[in-house]
Amino acid sequence: MKVDVLLGLQWGDEGKGKIVDVLTPNYSVVTRFQGGPNAGHTLEFENQKYVLRSVPSGIFQGDKINIIGNGVVLDPALFKAEIEQLEQSGHKLTERLLISRKAHLILPTHRLLDAALEQAKGKGKIGTTGKGIGPTYTDKISRNGLRVGDIEKNFEEKYKNAIERHKEILSHYDFEYDLAPIEKEWLAGVEKLRQFTFIDSEQYINKTLDSGKGILAEGAQGTMLDVDFGSYPFVTSSNTISAGACTGLGVSPRRIGEVFGIFKAYCTRVGSGPFPTELEDAIGEELRKLGHEFGAVTGRPRRCGWIDLVALKYAVTINGVSQLIMMKSDVLDQFKTIKACVAYKVNGIETKDFPFDINEGVEPIYKEFPGWCTDMTKTTSESQFPKEYSNYIKFIEEYLGVPVKFVSVGPDREQTIKR
Ligand code: GDP
Ligand code: IMO
Ligand code: MG
Repeated sequence: MKVDVLLGLQWGDEGKGKIVDVLTPNYSVVTRFQGGPNAGHTLEFENQKYVLRSVPSGIFQGDKINIIGNGVVLDPALFKAEIEQLEQSGHKLTERLLISRKAHLILPTHRLLDAALEQAKGKGKIGTTGKGIGPTYTDKISRNGLRVGDIEKNFEEKYKNAIERHKEILSHYDFEYDLAPIEKEWLAGVEKLRQFTFIDSEQYINKTLDSGKGILAEGAQGTMLDVDFGSYPFVTSSNTISAGACTGLGVSPRRIGEVFGIFKAYCTRVGSGPFPTELEDAIGEELRKLGHEFGAVTGRPRRCGWIDLVALKYAVTINGVSQLIMMKSDVLDQFKTIKACVAYKVNGIETKDFPFDINEGVEPIYKEFPGWCTDMTKTTSESQFPKEYSNYIKFIEEYLGVPVKFVSVGPDREQTIKR
């Protein structure tokens, strides 16, 4: 069997959590492969709403195994809070949530470093989620990181050394902090973490596939936030693309099956950085209001704009997307006219190729579509689609060269239509 990968094609928050939940019954195992608690994945069913940060979104469908893979960065304090919230709502996970020994730990000082670095950048700040993601991956790559497996042996010494190193770095910044309270919380988190089973996840995953069981890999963030291919430097610090599933889980590229690419029928971004189709006008405001576009983690208002097919085409190529999933189309239900960016004018020259730098001189060229002006939220099958809605999907499919296999017409699990 294969690992199917599900990932975001835009700047995150496409609705990955919802669709992982919907697809989970088809798999034995669901696993995260990168990112950390910078993610906020929302699921809604039976009038309940959950926001998951580090825990994979496959936990609500029966007794499936969920894995936090080696490519993930894990903050024990936030993990504890997340687990306790789930326990309070009746979801006990110790038996079916496994954690890779090779996943890196976000230390309390990583969070402080994140804040200090952002402050030092001033106006050029990334607008990170403040969860210590960048500094943790920096330590991983510079070979200074601490891993979940380190908790099992001589942990105190390793922890102290790492903290001392970080304190020294922090002393070079004009940044005040109080480590004691967050450290206390963090160490309590480590004790919570010890209740879970640590595994050599790459071995577990490959054996699962050998035994004929399928795995769904759940991406976090989105392709435009990928550290290599996103709008650098306004990106996150991991590979959010399908290739990230290979390194983040320890599977060969030959074991990757379907690649599900998720996108919103429009586009959003949270944090700083370029966004060619951003609408800083009444339409952008309307999208934010109708789409409830406020961050699941930070509550920050998300920047909104029209769909960008140039960027999407690039994302489809980089990821090898085999099936598309269009989310939040209901947010456009009332719009009389809908626009889609079909090319860029870069320094006056028209192109459909995604340029090296989208920071400056990029002007979107739009195609207009008549809106469907229909409440889609109760739609259950393709036969009920208004003509204008079908035309919008058809155009996107033709432009991107990949079929749209699911559309989502509301936040609930049930508001999902397979085509
Ligand atoms: P993720 O990070 O990709 O999992 O996405 P988020 O959870 O951060 O953001 C998606 C938001 O849109 C959540 O509040 C979802 O409940 C909501 N949502 C998902 N699909 C739909 C949809 O089809 N229509 C509407 N209106 N909301 C949706
Ligand atoms: P999900 O998985 C949207 C953004 C931050 C910032 C940049 C870097 O819910 O889609 P970081 O804290 O990772 O160093 O921040 O990336 N960002 C996200 N934006 N959805 C996310 O996750 C994000 N995770 C990080 O806003 O611009
Ligand atoms: Mg999110």
